[in-house]
Order: sequence, then C-alpha cells, then structure tokens
Amino acid sequence: MRKPLMAGNWKMNCTVKDAVELVKELKKYVKDVKNTEILVCPPFTALNEVSRTVKDSNIELGAQNMGYEDSGAFTGEISPLMLRELKCRYVILGHSERRHIFNENDGVINKKIKCALKNNLKPILCVGETLLQRRANLTKKIILNQIQNGLKDIKADDMKNIVVAYEPVWAIGTGKTAMPYQAQEIHASIRDLLEDMFNQDVGFNTRIIYGGSVKPDNIKELMMQSDIDGALVGGASLKAKDFSQIIRY
Ligand code: 13P
Repeated sequence: MRKPLMAGNWKMNCTVKDAVELVKELKKYVKDVKNTEILVCPPFTALNEVSRTVKDSNIELGAQNMGYEDSGAFTGEISPLMLRELKCRYVILGHSERRHIFNENDGVINKKIKCALKNNLKPILCVGETLLQRRANLTKKIILNQIQNGLKDIKADDMKNIVVAYEPVWAIGTGKTAMPYQAQEIHASIRDLLEDMFNQDVGFNTRIIYGGSVKPDNIKELMMQSDIDGALVGGASLKAKDFSQIIRY
C-alpha cells in the first residue's frame, strides 16, 4: 500500500535559528509517528543545521528546488550533489511559484527530474491549474500536459522514486482548499494517466499528494479520499503544532 507522505514546504521563511527551533519542536510532537512519512523542506541556507537536528529521527529532509546539472557555471544554482551531501532525500520540483514567478517551464522541470533521479534524490513533481484555467474547463488538460512533459523519457522503474503533488494554484496560500471531492477527481485522473503512460503498477503505487491551504481542520476529509496519499503543506507547516496535527490527521 502507499505510505502517506506529509511534507512541509517552508518556502522563503525561517532563518537558520528559526528553522532549528521549528524542527526541534516538531520532532517532539511527532516522535512516535511511524506509519506516515514526515518530510520538511527548509530554505537552502537552513538545510545543513536542520539536517543535523533531524539525524536519527523520523523526519526526513528535502529541498525546495535544484539546478539541473551536477556542477558548473550556473550562478546562484544549487546542485543535487550539494543536496545529497546534506542528506536530502527529496526535492520539490516544478512548484507553481517556480513556474509562475520564475518562469520555469516543463522542459526545465523535466531536466531537473532526470538529474535528481540520477543523483538518488526523490523528486516531488508539482502540477496544478490556475483559477482562469479551471474556469475555462482546462484543468485536466493542463495537468495532463504538465505530467506528460515533466515525466518525458522517465522509465516506469524510476516512478517508484517520484511523488506527484497536485496543487491547484488558486488554493495556494489563499485559504481556499479544493473541496475533497474536487481534489479526489483530479487525483484519480492523474492516477489513470500514470497507468496509461507507464503501467498499472505505476498507476496504483505512485503517491499523489495534495497541496493548497491544507490545515489541521481539513486534512482528515482530504485523507479520506481514496487517491489522496498525503499533503504538501505551506503556511501550516511553519507552526510545529499545526503541522503535527496534520501529520496525525
Ligand atoms: P499553503 O499551504 O500555504 O497554501 O501552500 C501550499 C503550497 O504551496 C505547498 O507547496
């Protein structure tokens, strides 16, 4: 069965000091959690200290972005080797803020996914439609494109290391969560698509997590949906208590 994954995306928040305090508090709240995978994705500058703090705990470490080469003249970029050195296991790729604010396209995201896999990092591929696209009835088409292009030339065998995150752009940071049935509908269609692109096992086994204004009071209903395997949490992951309640849904 698919093990639930609860991932905190701290975005551009937390100095090193804040980050260590936050993760220390979280560690206390969740130390007995076994059946759910717990992940925090601090900003790059805090990865080293957070990595030390979560060592030998049930909290895993991820990055929020990554360059698509191992090294070289890419001013301002961070390579997968650097993330591995700090014991990162996951990397968020194609987040809507990267797509919309920093103009990342599916081609770049695809390169990043391949480079992450080559370096034993697990990509969390984010997809999602804007409000305008939803209103124009384009949701499924947009997501199909993002997944087909983002996962171009990826082998079925690599899919066991990839997580898909459905994050409707209109639900991020707005307090508007997709209704659980709306999220479920899209998650189910993503699963069908993965089955078509790869095979039945990939469709069944790939974890598809939901993101967009996830809070302690809406997580339970989201997790009751058969195709929602966890959450990618922004704002609420910055409060240890709230995030721990989400983790324990
Ligand atoms: P919020 O939980 O703040 O809406 O952010 C969601 C998100 O973008 C997680 O990656």
